Amino acid sequence: MQNTDPRLERLLFNLDALAELGEELTSQKDFNRVIKSSLYMIIGTFSASKGAMFQFDHEQKIVHPIASKGIVNINDMTMKLKEETVEEIISLKTPIDIKNNDKVALLIGMGKADLEKLKARILIPLVVREDFLGLIFIGEKFSREAYTKDDIRLLSVIAHNIAVTLHSYSLLKKLMHKYDENKKLYENLSHIYYDTIHAFATAIDAKDAYTKGHSHRVSAYCAAIASEMTWSHKELEGIRIAGLLHDIGKIAIDKSIINKDNPLTKNEFIELNSHPVIGYEILSRVKFPWTEIAKISRCHHERVDGKGYPDGLKGNKIPCGVKIMTLADSFDAMSTDRPYRPALSASEVLIQLKENCGKQFDKDVLQSFFSIIRKEVYGENRPAILPLLRDSFAYQLKSEVLNGSINSFNPSKSRRKRVANHTIV
Ligand SMILES: [Fe+2]
Repeated sequence: MQNTDPRLERLLFNLDALAELGEELTSQKDFNRVIKSSLYMIIGTFSASKGAMFQFDHEQKIVHPIASKGIVNINDMTMKLKEETVEEIISLKTPIDIKNNDKVALLIGMGKADLEKLKARILIPLVVREDFLGLIFIGEKFSREAYTKDDIRLLSVIAHNIAVTLHSYSLLKKLMHKYDENKKLYENLSHIYYDTIHAFATAIDAKDAYTKGHSHRVSAYCAAIASEMTWSHKELEGIRIAGLLHDIGKIAIDKSIINKDNPLTKNEFIELNSHPVIGYEILSRVKFPWTEIAKISRCHHERVDGKGYPDGLKGNKIPCGVKIMTLADSFDAMSTDRPYRPALSASEVLIQLKENCGKQFDKDVLQSFFSIIRKEVYGENRPAILPLLRDSFAYQLKSEVLNGSINSFNPSKSRRKRVANHTIV
């Protein structure tokens, strides 16, 4: 370009510098690199000898260096600012020439030696909407020329852009800090919540000499079946909790009834069978994230043929979570010793499950359960059920599966052969 007006040339140069700065400030680079290269750009634009950028820490009321060029031992130059100092700096608004301006040096509490070290010529306050964010010092120009009014105007625009970046960054940091705090709080509460529920489950099972670990196993079986039925994460967590608490009503039942190995009297039977309703009374007062938990406790002795208790619900009137719970609860009852009978063999359990398909158990839930067992035996699923079984039972179950006992299971052609008339729950 020939014979161009030097002011126009300067303006174009300034626009270029601003565009470059804007690109730098909005880049995806690491914050420290962005700040550093922004400072370098300012120094380069004005052909200055030195420069430094300081960030204000609102909590400690100090400004500390975050970038510098041409200054040694900059890290020692952390300055404590008084409240009124911050207010005065905010009121400065625009960059100021501090040559022979002792008032400014005094204002920011910087000794003459420090100013000498910085060779500071211009002080640029970084302020966004009355929020003081930091300071930039830049030194003399190499040419020793004074900073012009245009230079000061350009520095003012540059400072505003950098201040906005610092402001966004400190907001983001505060937000991240709050997020971390809330996350920790949530994790603590979550641990307390799960620990409490596990403690309840252990207390429930402790009432029954035969059901050690029953609630924990039922919880795991339920989650495995629900997962096979593609339930959501929230629902899986819900049914896990429901499994741990389904028998909570037993807390109110006399221990001697729960552990009785002789047939129960009519009144004892009524008392024992009241545990689902008591469980519902307890759990319906608790606000769980998944609302079905109390209902599952109430209905876990319902049957799809309507012959269960306490409400005699039938078929589709029974929620799917209840059907899963019924199967998980019964499977655990059948595969472990009870006061009134020893554990059934795996082959007997499978026969009972098939025989009661459509009566006590829902067909889809049973098929999903068999599907998981098959997948675990053939190594297609991470084992969730097999590790919870007694070794001998797990061994028998694997043999049954490998012999094809449940591979060809078709609920409509369920085997008619019955085993001895065992109580299933
Ligand atoms: Fe029960």
